[in-house]
Amino acid sequence: MGDLSVTALYTSGAWSWGGVRGAECLASDDAKRVFRVTNAALRLARPWSPPSLPHALLWRHALIDFLLAQRAPTKVLELASGFSPRGFSASENPLLTYIEIDRPAVIERKRSLLARSTLGKEALERSNWQLLSSDVIADSFEAQLESPPPQLIIAEGLFMYLDVETQRSLQRRIAAMLAPGGTLIFDLVPPCEQPAPSAAGRALGWMMRRFSGQGFAPDTRTRTEIVRDLQADGFAEVEIFDPDHPPPNFSPPTTDLAFDQVVFAAKVKRDDLP
Ligand SMILES: C[S@@+](CC[C@H](N)C(=O)[O-])C[C@H]1O[C@@H](n2cnc3c(N)ncnc32)[C@H](O)[C@@H]1O
Repeated sequence: MGDLSVTALYTSGAWSWGGVRGAECLASDDAKRVFRVTNAALRLARPWSPPSLPHALLWRHALIDFLLAQRAPTKVLELASGFSPRGFSASENPLLTYIEIDRPAVIERKRSLLARSTLGKEALERSNWQLLSSDVIADSFEAQLESPPPQLIIAEGLFMYLDVETQRSLQRRIAAMLAPGGTLIFDLVPPCEQPAPSAAGRALGWMMRRFSGQGFAPDTRTRTEIVRDLQADGFAEVEIFDPDHPPPNFSPPTTDLAFDQVVFAAKVKRDDLP
């Protein structure tokens, strides 16, 4: 899987390491290896402090789970879902339809990882959990979706790889796809909020380009500019969460380490009732 799917192996390793529910059904030796090697590279690049990337990912994942539970939608679409166990766990609720999309190689691998265990096999049989193969940028995946439209669309760990115009084109399509009053949730730490290219960042960038042929996309926008673009692209209210500004009642995974993470929850402008 010589593209960004290697990043899904790293996050899969993080979900296993963090004990995220369901991660064991999607764990693999490849993911453990990518997780270990990447963390070792980060430690080498910044020996005076341990890498906080896994903690940042765990915080983001738990926050998105919290927002999902809080909003209690009946239909969710998760883009670029990788080997995340969220759909596996969330679809235990038979009243929730959970649709995931990722590239064909990732979806094929996800199915085969699940097929190793009884729990995974049973989950694959659920009629309310769908795993779709598509390129969310190049393909019109909208055509594969049945009505009613999703009330929540999640894109975890995707936007930082897309240049601004690609993000904006995707968010316009998402705004058109969401149910009235629906929400898009995605994470994106504006690069201008991150320290100027550190050794750790350069090491990670090098590894990303080496293994996936692609790095983080350049983006000079501030949070305010990202919100302005979301509003121009069909969204009304935008909430922003970070470790200093979590939503009320959110209990984050505990850690003393500092990390960056920013999650946007953008409500679509259309609130017309069907
Ligand atoms: C960092 S991983 C995140 C995976 C998952 N959301 C998680 O948090 O564990 C990025 C994911 O984006 C997927 N991806 C990147 N570009 C994509 C595209 N154009 N269409 C579909 N999936 C894409 C990759 O295959 C990979 O699974």
